[in-house]
Amino acid sequence: MDTPREPIIEFKGVSKSFGDRNILDRIDFSIYEGEVTTLIGLSGTGKSVTLKHIIGMLKPDEGQILFRGKPIDQMKKAEWNDYIGRISYMFQSNALFDSLTVFENVALPLKYTTKLKKKEIEQKAMARIEQTELTEVADKYSSESGPHP
Ligand SMILES: Nc1ncnc2c1ncn2[C@@H]1O[C@H](COP(=O)(O)OP(=O)(O)OP(=O)(O)O)[C@@H](O)[C@H]1O
Ligand SMILES: [Mg+2]
Repeated sequence: MDTPREPIIEFKGVSKSFGDRNILDRIDFSIYEGEVTTLIGLSGTGKSVTLKHIIGMLKPDEGQILFRGKPIDQMKKAEWNDYIGRISYMFQSNALFDSLTVFENVALPLKYTTKLKKKEIEQKAMARIEQTELTEVADKYSSESGPHP
């Protein structure tokens, strides 16, 4: 018999309300490694609220969120940093910082998550910008760059 697989992420009885509006009502679900999991629901039903719990932007009123069996609210700083460092997410809208140029937006994660030198960051960021044919708007702010970014 196969041993049961351990979920990579598990929600156990998670509830969340804002004021007297209950958004998540004791939800349970598991996400497994190597699979694509899709969250489907009408607008305003709590999909983004659910995802924000995974990245710790929101804390549940009740219940737990586990990463490989470990409650994320019990992680020590180093464990948390390791966990959060594995997660990538894109915001639903305004996926770019509007106070930064296109180039600065692309370079930002390299600045904060690598030890690369300024010159190397510039080269890498420009290579991606060229690859995506955004060279013309590299120095513009995201709101000025048309429909592309
Ligand atoms: N920080 C908050 N404070 C108060 N209410 C909130 C907050 N965040 C979300 N809500 C409310 O919770 C409900 C669920 O919002 P959520 O953004 O999760 O919906 P969604 O399923 O992602 O919708 P959409 O498909 O439009 O993206 C909405 O009614 C929203 O107004
Ligand atoms: Mg949403």
